[in-house]
Amino acid sequence: MTDINRQWVVAQPSRSEGMCLEPEVFGVKENPVPGLEEGQILIRNKLFVCEPLVHAMVKGVPGRIDPLPVGTVFKGHAGGVVVSSLHPDFAEGDEVHGTLDWADFVISDGLDAGGAPLSRLTPGYSLTTNMITLGMTGLCAYIGVLEIGKPKLGDNVVVSAAAGGIGSIALQIAKLLGCRTIGIAGGPEKCELLREELGADEAIDYKNGDLVSGLASAAPKGIDVMFDNVGGSVLDAVLVNLAPFGRVAMCGGISGYDNPEMVVRNTTLLTQHNGMIQGFWYSDYEQVFSDARDRLGGWLQSGELKELVDVSQGFEKVPESARGIFAGSNAGKQLVQIS
Ligand SMILES: NC(=O)c1ccc[n+]([C@@H]2O[C@H](COP(=O)([O-])OP(=O)(O)OC[C@H]3O[C@@H](n4cnc5c(N)ncnc54)[C@H](OP(=O)(O)O)[C@@H]3O)[C@@H](O)[C@H]2O)c1
Repeated sequence: MTDINRQWVVAQPSRSEGMCLEPEVFGVKENPVPGLEEGQILIRNKLFVCEPLVHAMVKGVPGRIDPLPVGTVFKGHAGGVVVSSLHPDFAEGDEVHGTLDWADFVISDGLDAGGAPLSRLTPGYSLTTNMITLGMTGLCAYIGVLEIGKPKLGDNVVVSAAAGGIGSIALQIAKLLGCRTIGIAGGPEKCELLREELGADEAIDYKNGDLVSGLASAAPKGIDVMFDNVGGSVLDAVLVNLAPFGRVAMCGGISGYDNPEMVVRNTTLLTQHNGMIQGFWYSDYEQVFSDARDRLGGWLQSGELKELVDVSQGFEKVPESARGIFAGSNAGKQLVQIS
């Protein structure tokens, strides 16, 4: 085992207007692999998950998240294997995940960086599946579709960023429920993936052509449910095409994270459509996690649900991969494999 621990640290404050961090904000620090004290474990990270939240943690969100000071190690969803343990509840070889330092090695006393117990693996599923389909990604998709959108058989369901991590699962769940699915994504390759791999009935490239008329032809009777990851002009185009009593499950608004000028203009159309937008924060729906994991796992095992991941190889790929989600360079959930 190497005795050097590489850590991604905040090298300088971010000066960008939007959330996406500049490449210079990412720096590497090398330290000796830390020694263990009684009650601790040493985790060797295998995977980092790239999410907009990592950028928010570094930049801070006024009133909610204090920015990570310069020199601090990046933190994000990471998973790995216990390589040595002085903790009675963990053995060498156990795989765990949680909010952890983005480093080769992390010391833990059984809790993650947010103070939550490290997550163990649901038997029968890989570390990746535990972290993605049975983790926040799958849970967001499940909650947004089933708890918020609640589509009925045959409803027109639109998913934005449908070729992304959460979107790809949301789209497939809607299809499994017997809905007519319309995925929105950037570029012809992603649209083909939506149709050919994920079974979308329609796929619309929001970067090419008029999205309002594209949605009108894809759903002439209107959109019953939208699962929104994007906000801004994409949400606006859906609001124009909302069916009576249509609903938007707002999972996120990535088009606004890197563009503070982003606005949604058409919310007044909700009045005439008797429409509704409801946001959700997945961790506030803990009561459905167990059922959600059972159903998501069942769909995976029966082959009805595909786990779409985009894996970059190598520790050094962190800045490029973490930034890439703002440019749409990922198809599926963006991961970085470390070891
Ligand atoms: N509610 C919750 O509890 C919760 C928890 C976690 C994450 N989220 C949110 O869920 C959303 C999806 O997250 P994810 O991690 O699964 O990301 P992701 O979908 O895997 O990646 C982001 C995708 O968004 C699209 N995108 C980026 N900038 C865009 C823009 N300006 N306009 C339109 N599309 C754009 C890109 O796809 P294209 O190539 O198609 O443009 C990109 O691939 C995010 O908004 C995130 O903040 C919510």
